[in-house]
Amino acid sequence: MPPCGSPVFVSNRKRGWSARLGNLLWCRGGRGKKGEFRLFGEVMGDDSKTIDWNKTRKFLNQITTDLGAAMLGALTYIGDRLGIFRALSSGEWLTSEELSRRTGLSERYLREWLGAMAAAGYVLYEPKERAYMMPAEHAMVLANEDSPFFMGGFIQMVVPNVTMAPRVADAFRTGKGVSQSEYPPETFHAMERSSAGMYRHQLIRKWLPTMPHVVEALGAGATAADVGCGSGRAAITLAKAFPNTRVYGYDVHPVSIERARAGAEAAGVSDRVTFEVRDGTRLPEARFDFVSTFDVVHDSADPAALLRSIRRSLKPNGTYLMLEMNVSPNVEENINAKGRMMYSVSTLYCMTVSLAEGGAGIGAMMGEPKARELTTEAGFGQFRRLPIDDLFSALYEIRP
Ligand SMILES: C[S@@+](CC[C@H](N)C(=O)[O-])C[C@H]1O[C@@H](n2cnc3c(N)ncnc32)[C@H](O)[C@@H]1O
Repeated sequence: MPPCGSPVFVSNRKRGWSARLGNLLWCRGGRGKKGEFRLFGEVMGDDSKTIDWNKTRKFLNQITTDLGAAMLGALTYIGDRLGIFRALSSGEWLTSEELSRRTGLSERYLREWLGAMAAAGYVLYEPKERAYMMPAEHAMVLANEDSPFFMGGFIQMVVPNVTMAPRVADAFRTGKGVSQSEYPPETFHAMERSSAGMYRHQLIRKWLPTMPHVVEALGAGATAADVGCGSGRAAITLAKAFPNTRVYGYDVHPVSIERARAGAEAAGVSDRVTFEVRDGTRLPEARFDFVSTFDVVHDSADPAALLRSIRRSLKPNGTYLMLEMNVSPNVEENINAKGRMMYSVSTLYCMTVSLAEGGAGIGAMMGEPKARELTTEAGFGQFRRLPIDDLFSALYEIRP
């Protein structure tokens, strides 16, 4: 038996690995009690045989990957913000010097950044020439803002959301939330970028065609409202596609409404879209042929009141389209990459902004059963999940 405090290695000869675990002490007498097992001088348990070191090592690998991903999030943010991903998207092999000349950025910083990107597999590395290349498939996700797979909005969201972690940690102690107005404006710009592609590529071509009566009504000229419109991308897309339809966008967040108005002006549809700071729980009655909420219900302070208000705001033949996360409300069904991302986003923003208003704090993992329950309680008679296959979004057609 080695003396207390000596370094301890764990190995698995069959699999050919060994690792130093630290100054593990399996004391029999001496300073430790019999059967006591210590790591770095701390008592870890009283029976080392209960620890499966293979699992510890595997988990150590996982957490190294996860911590690397967390740190890499900051570097992807830098790559997006400084246009480095765009500069790499030509598909050419570039050295850090060439990339520096192209971007006007410091070569030393770029070389370190490229090392991280190569280690993560975002770019390929050719050691002979010390050159890096972004495959065209990766450029679709990282650099091409018009691509349906573009993730730049989510990448941009990492830093403002993570910056809020100390405020969210305070909220863990109090059980209260962090109000939307405390988040930096960049959070909402990132949100706009993360959903803009969805509307550009899917709203008109993929989602609405699953409800032909809605397409017909909007084409003929209808009154529509997007509630919780954020910076108005969905409402503007609707107005552009259906020039006979009058569109209203409502949101409680004044900063987003300002951006929405500017967006409508830039798109040349400000005569057909009106954006207003208004709580969706107080909509005009019997006014709309079509109402939508995109990623709003789970964030809202009072989802029950919101849905009752939407129900009242619809004309008798109207349709409500609800988009929510394509997730299960059950933890055991979310033990995957999407669950990891969405529970994290929900803790850092969705659930937390709702709790800040003394709200329901449903969180992003609301799932279909809760959507059904809320709409039934609000007095809707029909609920149909639309046949749309999407990794992140579930869409529901809801009618009086
Ligand atoms: C996750 S964001 C989605 C924004 C937008 N629909 C999009 O897809 O980009 C949720 C939005 O709902 C808004 N919201 C939440 N509760 C609301 C309510 N009761 N009335 C109006 N807007 C609300 C928030 O201010 C926020 O802009």
